[in-house]
Amino acid sequence: ADTKVYTASTTAPVNIAVIKYWGKRDTKLNLPTNSSLSVTLSQDDLRTHTTAACSSTFSTDTLILNGESQDVSGARQQACFRELRSLRAALESANSTLPKLSTFPLLIVSENNFPTAAGLASSAAGFAALVRAIANLYELPQNPTELSRIARQGSGSACRSLFGGYVSWEQGTETDGSDSLALEVAPASHWPQMKAAILVVSAAKKGVSSTSGMQATVATSELFSHRANVVVPQRMEKMKQAIKERDFETFADLTMKDSNQFHAVCLDTQPPIFYLNDVSRAAIRAVDEINKKAGKKIAAYTFDAGPNAVIYYLEENEQAVLGALNGGLEGVEGWKNVTASADVSIEEAFL
Ligand code: PMV
Repeated sequence: ADTKVYTASTTAPVNIAVIKYWGKRDTKLNLPTNSSLSVTLSQDDLRTHTTAACSSTFSTDTLILNGESQDVSGARQQACFRELRSLRAALESANSTLPKLSTFPLLIVSENNFPTAAGLASSAAGFAALVRAIANLYELPQNPTELSRIARQGSGSACRSLFGGYVSWEQGTETDGSDSLALEVAPASHWPQMKAAILVVSAAKKGVSSTSGMQATVATSELFSHRANVVVPQRMEKMKQAIKERDFETFADLTMKDSNQFHAVCLDTQPPIFYLNDVSRAAIRAVDEINKKAGKKIAAYTFDAGPNAVIYYLEENEQAVLGALNGGLEGVEGWKNVTASADVSIEEAFL
């Protein structure tokens, strides 16, 4: 019998949306109520590293995240395992000499180098790395867009972490989710001057999970359908154009408006959901001041389901943006200076 342990490793990056996904039309398949668009961050700072192994000698599917065993019985994990196994089984039935990996239990070992579930898109990198690692283990021929269909079922935003650079998640119209996929808008090399500063206001776990928050918003917010059906479709087109033209002012304008509107529909949810705190609001004011002083938009803030800020800017403005952020937030409690380093595209500040 085949008692070999087969392994493959990979890393997947975090992505931060500039047009936000918020709302599901199908909670089982993670089909969204609107398309979204993100920038993938450098793997040097924020990434998940995952090793996938399988062997006939393993007893059951196991997932270890940051050294702790996780429950894999959940529908999201199960959907990813099932879909990947069925793609592998198709290869095995076409070629009988292949080892029957699809029948072996899986062992997945994952490490994040940043706080988990603190609104830093950990589930995005996590599920993208899980899908990519198993796809590598199974030697699947599927491309990143095809794999994004599977990663999406783990966590919606994960589908965008299968690409670097600028990535859209097209909501699709099919009820089976076959056209709800990630596409590359532009590679990172198209606009290499783009940088991001992450202001870690709190590394605590978020209060309201994105899944329950989204469902509450869809069920109760009256502003929500305007956002999903009218505003976002127009913004998606404008954002793609801005990225194509490397037009930072339009990129920044749309990014900040979309973050604000996402938090507005959270506030319009019953009961209201508050992800931003006083430090987040101070960061917003600091960015507004930077842009006012520059006479144009040179910095753009965005916030996910937590208080931490991600601030996009172009390399040429690094001193102006990071210097002013440090100065502008000096008196604010709960804030620590960002540190800039030359060779990475993210600056982090952990408190
Ligand atoms: O994929 P989830 O369930 O982690 O939801 C992500 C939601 C936001 O981060 C707030 C927005 C986005 O598009 O990433």
